[in-house]
Amino acid sequence: MTGPLKILTVFGTRPEAIKLFPVLHRLTGDARFTSRICVTGQHREMLDQVLDVARIEPDYDLDVMQPGQTPDELTARLLTGIGGVLDMEKPDVVLVQGDTTSALVAALAAYYRQIAVAHAEAGLRSGEKYRPWPEEINRKAITAIASLHFAPTQTAAISLEAESVDPASIHVTGNTAVDAVRWMAAKLDADSTLGAEVTEVLERFAEKRIIVLTAHRRESFEEGLGNIARAAATIAVREDVAIVCPVHPNPAVRPALENALNDRENVALVPPLGYAPFVRLLKASALLLTDSGGIQEEAAALGKPVLVMRDATERPEGIVAGTARLVGTQEIRIVSETERLLDDPQAYAAMANAKNPFGDGKAAQQICELLARMTPANRQT
Ligand code: UD1
Ligand code: UDP
Repeated sequence: MTGPLKILTVFGTRPEAIKLFPVLHRLTGDARFTSRICVTGQHREMLDQVLDVARIEPDYDLDVMQPGQTPDELTARLLTGIGGVLDMEKPDVVLVQGDTTSALVAALAAYYRQIAVAHAEAGLRSGEKYRPWPEEINRKAITAIASLHFAPTQTAAISLEAESVDPASIHVTGNTAVDAVRWMAAKLDADSTLGAEVTEVLERFAEKRIIVLTAHRRESFEEGLGNIARAAATIAVREDVAIVCPVHPNPAVRPALENALNDRENVALVPPLGYAPFVRLLKASALLLTDSGGIQEEAAALGKPVLVMRDATERPEGIVAGTARLVGTQEIRIVSETERLLDDPQAYAAMANAKNPFGDGKAAQQICELLARMTPANRQT
């Protein structure tokens, strides 16, 4: 007879928190598990916004964020911090999500102690070393360490098998992003006072078709962000649209967007939104322009066409299903693809009605069942 499986979940950024809270809600209070939570604070206010709405209370907060942090100094701070928590907690399993520096370092620190790692959202690959950067290699490195791989789609599972990962350790679960956005959307439906931070902007643009714009990828910092901002400025000349852009707090992002978009009547640059107001904004929008990973999945779950402003994506499922189009980071293409969706109702309907390929909203449940099956024998693999 073994005791409950002790799981330490480690995460640090907004998207990890959003995709992990459905799992954490289930782990807590399930007698099969002892759930401990370590947040790294790789993000600060954006992480806290999610912890707050999802009511997640971490056991540890390493509070590592520094303004304008580089990946190497962040990695160094994280490794000793997470290592210390692992030495105190001695979990059976470390659970990580996705491709961030926090996820990679948590996996590495666990490996150094021969603690098993379970990886949610495993197997996404663009096939390009620097796109997204540094996330493509972060995710691959976690694969090399993990002993349990929760692939959100069959495509991701096939990518893992192609890298000789033991097929018995790969499980297709769906993406917990779908669980999260459904949870939030249901709460918004039940309580019209939630997400009030966007009320003013939604009222101001009530007569217009709202385009949600987000951009933050490091590989776009050199040129891409400026192109994206100019494209948005061109689109916003149209009187029938308004662009709402929650500006990512990375100091490299704001100047590029402000230069092109400040003082435009049809554009609102707003601070990063909490998850409730952001999902409220998504629900009210016509379409999305983004380089985000998670927003591609949420858009598909909500039936909102999404134009992905990247040159390569590790989420080809959306492109294949027709929920997303990859439009690159050149101004002309971003503008023409947006206008096509705005002016061609058939093209719009084809994307809005395409089937969501990212899961059925039961990913967290599946992940918990799979974790519960971990035995003393495979905990140490
Ligand atoms: C990280 C992730 C990326 C994810 C993104 C989500 C890595 C390698 N990258 O990139 O995969 O898509 O988060 O947003 O882990 N900042 C704040 N407050 C916050 C959050 C960030 O001020 O709440 C600012 C800080 O100046 C910080 C900077 O943004 O130094 C960059 O944050 P960081 O997590 O290092 O990188 P991201 O580019 O956000
Ligand atoms: N998001 C949010 N507020 C915002 C913008 C995004 O809550 O102002 C959420 C969004 O719903 C998605 C996640 O943040 O779940 C995506 O995070 P981000 O784009 O920063 O990272 P990525 O998904 O690209 O790793």
